[in-house]
Amino acid sequence: MGKRLEDKVAIVTGSAKGIGFATAQRFAQEGAKVIIADVNPVAVENAAAQIPGSEGYVMNVTERASIQAAVDQIMQRYGRIDILINNAGITQDARLVKMTEAQFDAVIDVNLKGVFNCTQLIVPHMLEAGQGAIVNASSVVGIYGNFGQTNYSATKFGVIGFTKTWARELGPKGIRVNAVCPGFISTEMVKAMPENILKDIEKRSWLGRLGTPEEMANVYLFLASDEASYVNGVALEASGGISL
Ligand code: NAI
Repeated sequence: MGKRLEDKVAIVTGSAKGIGFATAQRFAQEGAKVIIADVNPVAVENAAAQIPGSEGYVMNVTERASIQAAVDQIMQRYGRIDILINNAGITQDARLVKMTEAQFDAVIDVNLKGVFNCTQLIVPHMLEAGQGAIVNASSVVGIYGNFGQTNYSATKFGVIGFTKTWARELGPKGIRVNAVCPGFISTEMVKAMPENILKDIEKRSWLGRLGTPEEMANVYLFLASDEASYVNGVALEASGGISL
């Protein structure tokens, strides 16, 4: 069997670490030309250096000029963009009564508007090619909500709304749009949670543990690859069955 993403050009946002990094690494193993797109210049350079076949671009998903500049360079260099993984995301948790407007706005700006910005600026190139695959990072929190995550859960519900809307708008043009809803995955984002809550989450997952970034990378790989050629508009939960 050939490699599953042979010669595809794939942009992974927020891929300097965590799930995005593991996804970039997995895609490169499968023959993709991977673009590491992240806001932190040093982290971008380090990540790209660790993944043969990848290239780093400093991109802030909240700044359209920054996305456009990177996209222009990528188009000049590769001539096409086949896959977009909208993975960049942040948390700023607080209960409703304590959440500041700045916390609310910051999370909406990256997790929701950032996905809109990147997709809107990249899709014209996919439309021109008549093909493409987009996978958005939602979350189990985007299906069930979560204590202390008014801002974050709203963005992750919103990302599922984007996914189902764009699947309708872009499907007829040959572009598939899907979302991944990870459960609790051992990255810095989750390690920032209190130890007792993490223990409780491990118990509630029917596999008895947190997930790994590599396990999420395999889900992104399936949805981005031609193996998912008839999968469009789904929000695929990969949580060890935490909600059962
Ligand atoms: P992480 O915190 O380990 O990595 C996030 C990356 O996004 C970082 O490299 C960061 O620099 C980058 N980033 C942040 N703001 C950015 C911006 N404005 N522009 C470009 N890049 C930016 O996060 P993790 O855990 O790997 O999560 C990745 C995605 O998966 C996020 O969207 C997150 O909400 C989602 N997710 C994570 C879960 C988990 O358990 N870790 C569970 C469900 C969803």
